Amino acid sequence: MQTIFRGRHFISEQEWTREEIDTALEVSFDLKRRFATGEPHRLLPDKTVFMMFFEQSTRTRNSMEAGITQLGGHAHDLTPDKMQLSHGESAKDTAIILSRMGHAIACRNCFYGIGNEYLRELARWSTVPILNLQCDVYHPMQGLADLMVMQEKFGRDLRGLKVCISWAYATSHAKPVSVPQSQILLFTRYGMDVRVAAPKEFPLQQAIVEQAQQNARHGGRLTFTDDMDAGFEGAQIVIPKNWGGFAWFDKWEDSEAQKKEMKANLEKSKGWICDARRMKLADKHVKYMHALPADRGKEVTDEVIDGPHSIVYDEAENRLHTAKAVMALTMGGR
Ligand code: CP
Repeated sequence: MQTIFRGRHFISEQEWTREEIDTALEVSFDLKRRFATGEPHRLLPDKTVFMMFFEQSTRTRNSMEAGITQLGGHAHDLTPDKMQLSHGESAKDTAIILSRMGHAIACRNCFYGIGNEYLRELARWSTVPILNLQCDVYHPMQGLADLMVMQEKFGRDLRGLKVCISWAYATSHAKPVSVPQSQILLFTRYGMDVRVAAPKEFPLQQAIVEQAQQNARHGGRLTFTDDMDAGFEGAQIVIPKNWGGFAWFDKWEDSEAQKKEMKANLEKSKGWICDARRMKLADKHVKYMHALPADRGKEVTDEVIDGPHSIVYDEAENRLHTAKAVMALTMGGR
């Protein structure tokens, strides 16, 4: 078990070894048990985490804030409008100043082509851990919680588990690709048989796919289909979720013509919903997962998300335990 984490950044799960992720999961299970029994676990007394949210959040914000409180510390819930970065203050100055006042800087910035670079710039200047609360490329906190719930339902050895990560239709907003990207990176490292189903207009980033293919070399598998039904066939876990039509990635100009094309692509795939018929194509004991929030009636029917196969609330609860583990290890520990 790897035990030396103090001061480490958690920007992508890829930068933590498999042994380190195993330790984070072990600590998450321990903290969940202590939470369940009411055993105090003030591992970070008087420590401060600064949370900078460039976007909305329910699970991430509250798992971090409740988590640090339970660990004996405190969170500052910051948004750009509360900070001088709204007047152009640099990531460098922000990181140096906050480092001098507290013990970790956590940030969500999902703007395409900007988010991950912003976190990297914070990390360049910070003397305390930078914790990624979701960027344009990765959502490592979600990935960890997903692994935890999978181990709870299928046992610690996840090798060979058939998982379908599927694109799904949604209209609330173009959801980041960071969730499926963190999932393919992590799940392949744990030896799972991962199938990604998505219309061709909604690819994942090529560099991440290549990295996940490398990860799969140690016993995992990563395959692709543009047929949602084929993706669901025999799957033991299905994770159908929208992600934006950022097919252009580097070519994205935010032009009206591109936006129109993206909307047309979205409407073409309106039938990509997780419903009872599709669930029947999967293994009879299949589990339904979603990072949430879900577009009910679009990504998934109420019958499925509220049904016996759904484990979305266990998955969401694990955001608390895994966030606490990451903070306890990087802000405290040894
Ligand atoms: N899954 C997730 O990150 O949820 P929030 O956007 O509510 O934080």
